[in-house]
Amino acid sequence: MTRDKHTVKFTKQVHSNQYGMRLATPEIVAEYIASRLRTHTIADLGCGIGIQAIFFAKQCTKVYAVELDSERFNYARENARLYGVSNIEFILADALSDHVIKRLSDVDIVFSDPARLMQEKERRLEGSRPPVLEVIRKYQHITDKMAFHLPPKIEQSKIFFDCEREYLSLNGQLNRFTVYLGSLKKCDRSAVVLPEGARLESKPVQPIDKTSTPRDFIFEPQPSVVHAGLLGELNEYLPADAAVYYSDQTRTLITSDSLLHLPFSFLKDCYHVICTTDFKPDKIKRALVEGNAKKVVLRFQIEPLKYWNMRNMFEEGLSGDKTVHLFRCNNTAVVCEKVQKEQT
Ligand SMILES: C[S@@+](CC[C@H](N)C(=O)[O-])C[C@H]1O[C@@H](n2cnc3c(N)ncnc32)[C@H](O)[C@@H]1O
Repeated sequence: MTRDKHTVKFTKQVHSNQYGMRLATPEIVAEYIASRLRTHTIADLGCGIGIQAIFFAKQCTKVYAVELDSERFNYARENARLYGVSNIEFILADALSDHVIKRLSDVDIVFSDPARLMQEKERRLEGSRPPVLEVIRKYQHITDKMAFHLPPKIEQSKIFFDCEREYLSLNGQLNRFTVYLGSLKKCDRSAVVLPEGARLESKPVQPIDKTSTPRDFIFEPQPSVVHAGLLGELNEYLPADAAVYYSDQTRTLITSDSLLHLPFSFLKDCYHVICTTDFKPDKIKRALVEGNAKKVVLRFQIEPLKYWNMRNMFEEGLSGDKTVHLFRCNNTAVVCEKVQKEQT
């Protein structure tokens, strides 16, 4: 297994069962959150197997790590030893109990990455464990500086308190949604891109234009930028003619005639448009032959079982030498070639 911290969840053989492992924060994310919340004394309410608490311990003087589940609590203590940190005070208890709140009266920041109810149909604050609203209510006399991981898909209107809403992409996938309360708030909305470490903040900007025709290049912004609603802010770095060409629940595509001045960290990928045609198999096949294609990566929503059937159908008989990427934007097929990031 590679030990590259950008691609593996953990660089050490952490102690955990499967459930704790699934809930645990990847090291690189824990490191980022710890750097953002660097302080003297911090509390991690519901520390799980302890990964976030361990990274807090590397950046803060003192950490309280509270966990209700004794098995995960024991793993967290073993993991602290494994990572060589000794400034965590572990507490096996309910984070909302009076004696814990009293013991944590010297904290500067309260953090929690709550578990979510599995059976929940719709993500709600009330479904978090420990419950976020209860934590705010019970700890607000100690500090106004609080931060919580929430489900990225939670409806925005359900978060009715004042906070910064930060979306984080890791290796091109949305990984975390974090809210920062009190004086931890730096702006209304923000996007972070890891492993690059880039950050974009909301500010008053003009919305980005829209167009119904793709130009020479297509850019796919990082999901954190799209979820944070920062396309207008991103547009300040894009070529003057950049406009949104397509958007659905899983993909947003920006188009432009040039590649100039791209801060690539905020863009997941960039493509050169070879041609467009109607989204009909015979027309697409012709376009693929003319475009000298050999492999065809499908870049639209399709059931996993049908993906290879369709891909094999498109690739059959192709004798070119290019790997092309096929987008479906409404009824238009957009055939593209990926632009390597180093080229700009
Ligand atoms: C998503 S996990 C945290 C994962 C952790 N950030 C990590 O890196 O391993 C949430 C944890 O909160 C714990 N928990 C839930 N309610 C709690 C409560 N009232 N007090 C303390 N811990 C609680 C759960 O047992 C669970 O281990």
